[in-house]
Order: sequence, then C-alpha cells, then structure tokens
Amino acid sequence: MEVSIGNRSRSRTMFMVFVFLSATLCLPHVSVSVSEHQCKAWLVQSIPTDMPHLARVSGVLSTGDVFRWLAQNSSHKLDIIAQYWQLNAQPEDPRSGDYGYSKADMSRFGAAQGSQVYKAIEDAADRNVSIRLVSHSGVYPDYTKEPSNLASGRPNVKSVTLLHSEWWGSGIVHAKVWISNRRDVYIGSANNDWKSLTQVKEVGIYLVGCPKIAKKVEAYFENLWNLAHLNPSAYTKTVWDQQWQLERKVPCWSRFVDSEERCWSPLDDHFVRIPHVAGYPTLSHPHMFKLPIQSPGQNYSTSKPESSYLSFAPPELSFGTYPADEQAWVETIKSVGSGATLRISTMDWLGQSQYMKPTVYWSSLSSAVSEATYPSFSKYTGISLILVDPDINNKL
Ligand SMILES: *[C@@H]1O[C@H](CO)[C@@H](O)[C@H](O)[C@H]1NC(C)=O
Ligand SMILES: *[C@@H]1O[C@H](CO)[C@@H](O)[C@H](O)[C@H]1NC(C)=O
Ligand SMILES: *[C@@H]1O[C@H](CO)[C@@H](O)[C@H](O)[C@H]1NC(C)=O
Repeated sequence: MEVSIGNRSRSRTMFMVFVFLSATLCLPHVSVSVSEHQCKAWLVQSIPTDMPHLARVSGVLSTGDVFRWLAQNSSHKLDIIAQYWQLNAQPEDPRSGDYGYSKADMSRFGAAQGSQVYKAIEDAADRNVSIRLVSHSGVYPDYTKEPSNLASGRPNVKSVTLLHSEWWGSGIVHAKVWISNRRDVYIGSANNDWKSLTQVKEVGIYLVGCPKIAKKVEAYFENLWNLAHLNPSAYTKTVWDQQWQLERKVPCWSRFVDSEERCWSPLDDHFVRIPHVAGYPTLSHPHMFKLPIQSPGQNYSTSKPESSYLSFAPPELSFGTYPADEQAWVETIKSVGSGATLRISTMDWLGQSQYMKPTVYWSSLSSAVSEATYPSFSKYTGISLILVDPDINNKL
C-alpha cells in the first residue's frame, strides 16, 4: 500500500512513497477522508551507516526510532504487517547472510537497532498489549521464527502468515505497516529486518494521532487477517484476464469474475456490486485528507497541509472504496506541474512482471513518466529516479 502526498494538480515538487505491495498483477489502492486537528505526519528514512556523504535529511525521522516508539508507546493494541522478520542479527548462524561478521562489524553496521526494536515489541507483549502480526511466510533461514517466538506462550500475541499465491496465483504480502493504539501509523518500505534500519535506503511516513486514518488502514489489516484464516481453495476462481490475456486465480468475489459467477465476500459478508471489469478498475474521486508534514528542527514544519490519500493492493481487499496502488502511482506521476520535479525512489523499474510465468508486460508507469516528460509544448518536467540494487540483502 502507498500514501500519495502532494497537491494533485500544481505542486512544485511531488513526493512519492512507492511501496510495492506484491509482485503480481494485483495493484489496487484506497483513499480516506479526514480532517483531524492533531493528526500530523513525519517523513521517515533509513540511510546505511558508513555513508558519510549521504546523511539523513534533517527534519526526517529514522526508521529505527519510529519502530521503537511505536512499540514502546503502544498501550493496548499493536498491529503489524511485514513481509518477513530478521530484526535480530545472526552472525553465528552459518546459514545467515550475517554469518562470519565480528561483533565489532555488527556494531558498526548498526545491528543493535534491530534487536532494540524486537525488544520493544517483546516488552509491549509482556505489558499485555494485544499484538497481531501478519506476514508472508518469511525468508530463509529464519522464516517465521521471530513472530512465532513473540506469539509463543502469549495469548495476547497472534501471528499468522498469508500466502498471496494461494489467492492470486503469485505475489506476496509486501506492505510494511504498523498501527499502534488505533491512532499512530507507519506506512513505508522498511522491512522488519535490522538491515532495513541501518543498511538499506528506506522511506516511509509516520502518521501520529490520526485515529480516522488509522481506522481505514486497520480495515485493510482486518481483511488481510481474515483472509489468512480462510481456506483459499473454497474461495478462489480461475478467470480469463482480458487485459493480460492469461488465466489468473482470483478471490471469487473479485470484479474480474463475471457477476453471475461471483460469490459473496466472506470478508465483510457483502456482494461486490460492481460490473465485471477487464482491467484494473479506477476510482475517480478518492477521498483526500489534509495533513501537515512535520519536520522537527526545521522551520517549514508547520507549512500548509498537503493533500493526501491512501491506496491499497490487491483490489479484492478494498471493495471499490479505495483506489488501487497502480492508479495512485499513475495519478501522482501525471499530476506533476509544468516545470516541476517528480522524484521517485524505487527498488527496481522493470515494466514487466518479475516473478511470475508467463511474463506480463506492464507499461503504465513508464507511459505515465513519458507523458509527464514529453508533453505538448512548453511544459518540461524534471524526473529524478533513484534505483536501489534489489539484491542488496544478498550482498551485505
Ligand atoms: C513515543 O515514545 C518516544 C520515547 O519512547 C518519544 O520520544 C516519542 O515522541 C513518543 N511519541 C510518538 C508519537 O512516537
Ligand atoms: C490482558 O488483557 C486481556 C484483555 O485485553 C485481559 O482479559 C487479561 O486479563 C489481561 N491479562 C493480564 C495478565 O493483565
Ligand atoms: C527558524 O526561524 C528562526 C526565527 O525565524 C531562526 O532564528 C532559525 O535560525 C530558523 N531555523 C532554521 C533551521 O532555519
């Protein structure tokens, strides 16, 4: 899922948090309408240690701090969506990428931040905070070890895994979302991995004191949570996807299923009364909310609130209420004004599916960028594209 920030038509610079939710065709999103006096946002960043020429931007919080605060300040409820967990470094485990590094190396890499976050969650668990953890099956060699350990012997902590491939044929839980006390929310790119705190560039947004926005994100969390407790074979159908010209597995309440064949959704017990669609359905007026973006120590902290909306994927989890991530990305790219700058930070840029067979060619982002860069006459738009080595986790 993603938060798009910026004036939709005329902003001078656009900031985009790209959080690739799944590697499949599932790219839908969500929007929110809110006006809250105290709700505010901070930008959050991770910058690798040992990069003296690339400091964290001043006024932007560090991911490690934010994760720790979310856990430490949680008094009754903490929900976390994570692709996988490796907060505790494992330099003694020969199967781990951390293997062989000395204590001094790990300290220089900032690995302690990961264990501090883990400890903060453990402490919250011991304070009887009600904790729910949703993740993909995890990654080698730990898989679900950390969330399972947190849940073990604690009735107030529940951990589930959700395999998107059983529902959509491919893809994974890729969102990184924390919701604390139903009011403080992190949405960003940082995994629950010590390397995401101090060895990988990450970006996110921390929404503080925002119960109305938290409720929308929580609705998405509930849907993932409930999905993880259902038997996919009872609720999936294979459909012919007209847009991509291939057969796809989808939840039986999907808009890609012909309405006569469509089932009632087991998630919120309603029937999706939206016509069958051939491609990703767009939502024309996502509800916007205004958020002041705070930058501690900087005078622009209290500048005018930015218009924002939430988007989610896959679309079968948002019931036509929210725009899909793909739509949000394309709209954000296209909204860049004449002479303005669009900044995109993303792990990779491929224009096609990467992990599924057969390969699907997917041009919407590249087309949107081309349109923004080469419009009719005088408009010139600057594009900054930062690509991050996708194999960073395997190379450390
Ligand atoms: C949470 O806790 C930390 C200290 O533990 C504090 O500095 C921070 O401001 C608190 N509030 C939020 C909203 O994170
Ligand atoms: C923990 O919280 C639950 C409800 O949230 C409550 O029923 C239970 O008694 C609490 N346990 C302790 C040890 O406080
Ligand atoms: C913020 O504004 C005050 C007064 O207007 C000034 O003294 C201070 O240097 C400014 N701080 C920054 C970080 O620009």
